[in-house]
Amino acid sequence: MNPDGTSSGAAGQGGGRGSVTIREVAALAGVSAGTVSNVLNRPYYVKEATRERVLQTIEELDFQPTQKARQFRPGRERTLGIAVANLDNPFFVDVALGAEEVARQHDIGVVITNSGYDAEVENQNLDLLVQHRVQGLIISPVDESSSRLQMLQDRGVPMVFVDRVGQNATHGWSVVVDDERGGAIAAKHLVDTGHRRITLVGHPHTSPKVRARLEGVRSVVKKSPGVQLEVLETDSWTVDTGREAGWQITKTLPGQRPTGIICANDLLALGALQSFSSAGLRVPKDLAVIGYDDLEWSAVSTPALTTVRQPRRLLGATAVRMLLELSRDVNAKPRHNHVVLQPELVVRDSA
Ligand code: RIB
Repeated sequence: MNPDGTSSGAAGQGGGRGSVTIREVAALAGVSAGTVSNVLNRPYYVKEATRERVLQTIEELDFQPTQKARQFRPGRERTLGIAVANLDNPFFVDVALGAEEVARQHDIGVVITNSGYDAEVENQNLDLLVQHRVQGLIISPVDESSSRLQMLQDRGVPMVFVDRVGQNATHGWSVVVDDERGGAIAAKHLVDTGHRRITLVGHPHTSPKVRARLEGVRSVVKKSPGVQLEVLETDSWTVDTGREAGWQITKTLPGQRPTGIICANDLLALGALQSFSSAGLRVPKDLAVIGYDDLEWSAVSTPALTTVRQPRRLLGATAVRMLLELSRDVNAKPRHNHVVLQPELVVRDSA
């Protein structure tokens, strides 16, 4: 077995399946063996033109890195990586804090990276974490269907998806909160308190999370005669977006204006509340507002926000416990383990 993990006849013999070394690929492509390794394992670090030239050489020589050469080997330090979608959103801060608390109880260090909702940055962060040979990864991915995540799983990196799992809900290890149930309990509260014109503020067209919450809302509305539902499409989860959406709602004629608003998360709700207040609309008298997440700020907003609580720290803590179990022997564990936590309605003053 060559040092780089390939098997060959006499060292340096080229040609044939499995007999080509990484050094021969490097020599022909005019790069270092490290660059060839990066093309295979951390393609993000290699310039496009170089990457293409190396991949072409690999194909020409039919280079076959052995599975062992590509298999993930965790480092000795007890450290795990957490890649969160956006630390700008306190939801993910709370998930990371919950994860860190359990990791610390097991004398395990945590390296937290922030993707800022940017899939390219996420890829860089993942490469960094794997390069530092963490024991495993906890990730709330920007792009649940990322090929990089699939590649890391194929290389045997122990990984638990938290909050955002996409197609991994049917394979891989993951922990989420039941979004459909969350949407349903928000809608039921509005219907039970007499609201007949309900608007959901969010972006179901781009977020599987919002789509699931909307499905939950719809499941209640369709069983509630006389209740109308509209969706006010936004393009993000932020306070500014909520402010803009709230402003649009203030412009509707009183007879057509919704009386119940469900925002896809608390940040959108906090922004909408600001617009309603600026327009002189009274909450909940003129219109009721429900958020989603139950961030720390939501209890002290004006009015205090009624919201759907996600057990954020428990999400992070559960993900770490699952990762510790999974990374004991990733190959011996079931390929699929999906844990679903429950949301709950927290009734305050806004609805
Ligand atoms: O607030 C951000 C949203 O994205 C949360 O509701 C959480 O579910 C995350 O996916």
